[in-house]
Amino acid sequence: MTGGETKRRKVDLYMRNWLYPLAYPIRKRQILDRWEKVGRPNPPPAYFKHDYLKQLAAENPHLTKFVETGTWKADTLWQLRNHFETLHSAELDFELFLAAKKRLARFEHIRLWQGHSPEILNLILENNESPTLFWLDAHYMSGGVIGAGVCPVLAELEAIFDHCSESTGHIILIDDARNFIPAGDYPTLAEVTAYVKLHWSSYDVRVQNDMIHCQLTKLD
Ligand SMILES: C[S@@+](CC[C@H](N)C(=O)[O-])C[C@H]1O[C@@H](n2cnc3c(N)ncnc32)[C@H](O)[C@@H]1O
Repeated sequence: MTGGETKRRKVDLYMRNWLYPLAYPIRKRQILDRWEKVGRPNPPPAYFKHDYLKQLAAENPHLTKFVETGTWKADTLWQLRNHFETLHSAELDFELFLAAKKRLARFEHIRLWQGHSPEILNLILENNESPTLFWLDAHYMSGGVIGAGVCPVLAELEAIFDHCSESTGHIILIDDARNFIPAGDYPTLAEVTAYVKLHWSSYDVRVQNDMIHCQLTKLD
């Protein structure tokens, strides 16, 4: 990394620690108002997704653990820090991992991991009994590092299926559903659906608000 980039990241970290919490509500209102005004195009802004995750946590109090792949700037962790007993996040990029560690250093219930997400999930999920909200969001971003493939979601799901039980009631959300199309670098929605159904046949897979939702079928 160049000296300029290091300085830019330091400034960014400072802004996120001190200005972000103050500016967040104002910025959120502006962005969401603008988004509503233009007819709620896909994808919804990150602010919308944060609220959606909080709502999901409130509606499913049995979910005590949050596991994220792709930490990025740790904004989602920051937003959800008071909504789960424990939170874990895996980031491939070492610099992003270090910055997130600094940002969240005072929260003992948040654990950050550095490495390729499927390998980290194997560590996080060893003996996992806690009902978990998974937020699978690791993928290549320009300027970042590239791991084994652009989007490791199928290997992430494999780690989840290896360690977790279908009957526990975990919810898996996969972000950026719009990218799971043929001819891209991601698996298709049909491939993801088939993979989930193969392992957890009582799970529904549907897309809502640009997120792929995988959860136990509700019995009426
Ligand atoms: C869209 S960002 C994540 C945003 C974050 N989840 C949030 O909600 O604010 C994607 C992140 O995934 C990371 N990433 C890419 N490939 C990865 C991999 N194989 N394992 C872990 N992280 C990865 C990128 O470096 C980037 O920080």
